[in-house]
Amino acid sequence: MVKIGVIGAGKFGTNLLNTFSQIEREGRCKLVAICDINKQTLEVQSKRYNVRGYTDYKEMLNREEIDGVAVATPDPFHKEPVIYAAGQGKHIFVEKPMDVTVEGCLEMIDVCRKNNVFLQVDFHKRFDPFHMQVRRDVQEGLAGTIEYGYAHMEDKIVVPRDWFPGWAPKSSPVWFLGVHMFDLIRWIIGSNGKSVYARGSKSKLKSLGIDTYDAISTMVEFESGAVVTFDLSWILPEDFEAIVNQGFRLVGENGAIECDSQDRGTRVFYQGKGVATYNPVFISETDDRRIGRTRYSGYGIESIADFVYNLEFLSKGGCIDELKGGITGLGEDGLEVTKIAVAIHRSLESGKIEQVK
Ligand SMILES: NC(=O)c1ccc[n+]([C@@H]2O[C@H](COP(=O)([O-])OP(=O)(O)OC[C@H]3O[C@@H](n4cnc5c(N)ncnc54)[C@H](O)[C@@H]3O)[C@@H](O)[C@H]2O)c1
Repeated sequence: MVKIGVIGAGKFGTNLLNTFSQIEREGRCKLVAICDINKQTLEVQSKRYNVRGYTDYKEMLNREEIDGVAVATPDPFHKEPVIYAAGQGKHIFVEKPMDVTVEGCLEMIDVCRKNNVFLQVDFHKRFDPFHMQVRRDVQEGLAGTIEYGYAHMEDKIVVPRDWFPGWAPKSSPVWFLGVHMFDLIRWIIGSNGKSVYARGSKSKLKSLGIDTYDAISTMVEFESGAVVTFDLSWILPEDFEAIVNQGFRLVGENGAIECDSQDRGTRVFYQGKGVATYNPVFISETDDRRIGRTRYSGYGIESIADFVYNLEFLSKGGCIDELKGGITGLGEDGLEVTKIAVAIHRSLESGKIEQVK
């Protein structure tokens, strides 16, 4: 059975822990240990999931028998634990963005290759059933060659302001949100980024003492010729109807696709509470009486569970190359996405069109 360790047990790490412990109950993996440098977080989470806890991932990896490691530390701190764990022969699942530098991604890919371990990046938008259908349509050529499009992903201000004000200045709407959309569009159209142009603004968050971009708008030219504009921000007001606003449209020679990835058709209006929109296909919680506890499902969970299923596949003789081009986000995908994000930040500085390299 696949043995898993988790590094970074914060807000999103909780989804990793929920997923692995659910699969453990199904008898398909074992959550062996968790690591978090925050002692309070570690204490709460190790008690909640009934696993051994460590404040030092090196100690965890040296002491425990672990096959695969899932990393959910803040955006700029994925690389070190990934390199160390891969060097110890552990398969890797890493949260997006894979790393915030191209060199870091290359180093991670290199160490995984040398140690013959698998490297998966959590690009969960691929697991959204609506997105899967769009990809099938585009790959079948129903819209013809995609020529242009538009995507947006915008968080409420609570995310950078209240959830992680400490490391938001080391991230940006491009690193935290944009990477999801860059990967989704390149996965749907089957093409990598070629050049970018970007402008951004720093105002609201800076006035709150959080020195990062509020919003970044960028035009990305893909190698296929498609030109897609992305609006990325994390300053939507608290009154907005969902935690994230997201969607895209793609237009080709023979058709157009419009996908609202936020409003999935259920809107509620309650006295004194305003309007809310639900997106239960991301993560939904069901009171499952058969197991006497909450059951988690949705694309946010499937994307994490996919790591366990991939490790099972590999342990039964499957090879990493067979997973290329499928639903799993691999290290090579993480690298291509980071190349786009790095070029965007270069363009923000230079005010010029920058090549994706
Ligand atoms: N896939 C998604 O939809 C999604 C959503 C939100 C966040 N994320 C990603 O998940 C990652 C974590 O985000 P979060 O919102 O959970 O942040 P968070 O701040 O809530 O949690 C990060 C945790 O990592 C711990 N940590 C930091 N350095 C560490 C180290 N060296 N060793 C062990 N633990 C360490 C911190 O103490 C903290 O508990 C980010 O990269 C973020 O972009 C992904």
